[in-house]
Amino acid sequence: MSSVAASVSSGDGGGKPPVPTHVAIIMDGNGRWAKARGLPRAAGHERGVEALRKVVEAAGEIGIKYLTVYSFSTENWRRPASEVSALFGLLKTYMQKDLNRLRKEGVKITIIGRREGLPKDIADLVAKAERDTKDNDRFYLNIAFNYGGREEIVRAVRKVATEAAAGRVEPESITEDMFADYLDTRGMPDPDLLIRTSAEYRLSNFLLWQIAYSEFVFLDVLWPDFDRGWLEKAVMVYQERERRFGAVTQGEL
Ligand code: FPP
Repeated sequence: MSSVAASVSSGDGGGKPPVPTHVAIIMDGNGRWAKARGLPRAAGHERGVEALRKVVEAAGEIGIKYLTVYSFSTENWRRPASEVSALFGLLKTYMQKDLNRLRKEGVKITIIGRREGLPKDIADLVAKAERDTKDNDRFYLNIAFNYGGREEIVRAVRKVATEAAAGRVEPESITEDMFADYLDTRGMPDPDLLIRTSAEYRLSNFLLWQIAYSEFVFLDVLWPDFDRGWLEKAVMVYQERERRFGAVTQGEL
């Protein structure tokens, strides 16, 4: 562990909050990164995958257990067909090139989002990645692809409603914890920290249910330039925050 990593992970004993267990990232700014260099937008997304590789490695090393990244939203279908196809191609190559290494490194891959509407080759690769890594538990990488927070909630509501209509679920027995089990993130802790890059201050329909109590950190860096140093900076900002979950602090009582 590097000395910087040691400094961000000194949550035990030093009075500092621990490293966040679950970090979610809105990887924004690929298009602007490419435009600034006179390159096509797809080149920005390609460099974005490089940044993602570095961040997955760094996250594991500094003690983060879950990383959820926003790769393609349900709204991204509105982009030019060439860009949509470039993003699908990048997911495909990532799954083909990195799966074996990630599997050996103990990474469990989960793709969150709507499966319907994905081309068959992508759906097959996604299923294979999940199958091949299902027993891993060193690090959890969730890739949000064809994902929208509202769509995820509506899908979950449909499932619960179907169960209720069939008499298998009593409406009175529906609780927050029980409902969360119908979401794509079932069984995972909610994100402690949400990072968005590129100095944009929006949630863009990401993890709407799960981020109820997450800390938000917005950074002025375009995603392709994001690296371990930026991740550590975000974690340090998080560690300075006081999380109260709706309660009051000790001193105020
Ligand atoms: C937002 O930047 C980024 C996206 C819509 C895609 C994010 C995708 C990657 C980082 C690579 C894909 C990774 C995998 C594993 C498939 P933007 O294009 O909206 O940037 P802009 O706001 O500067 O135009």
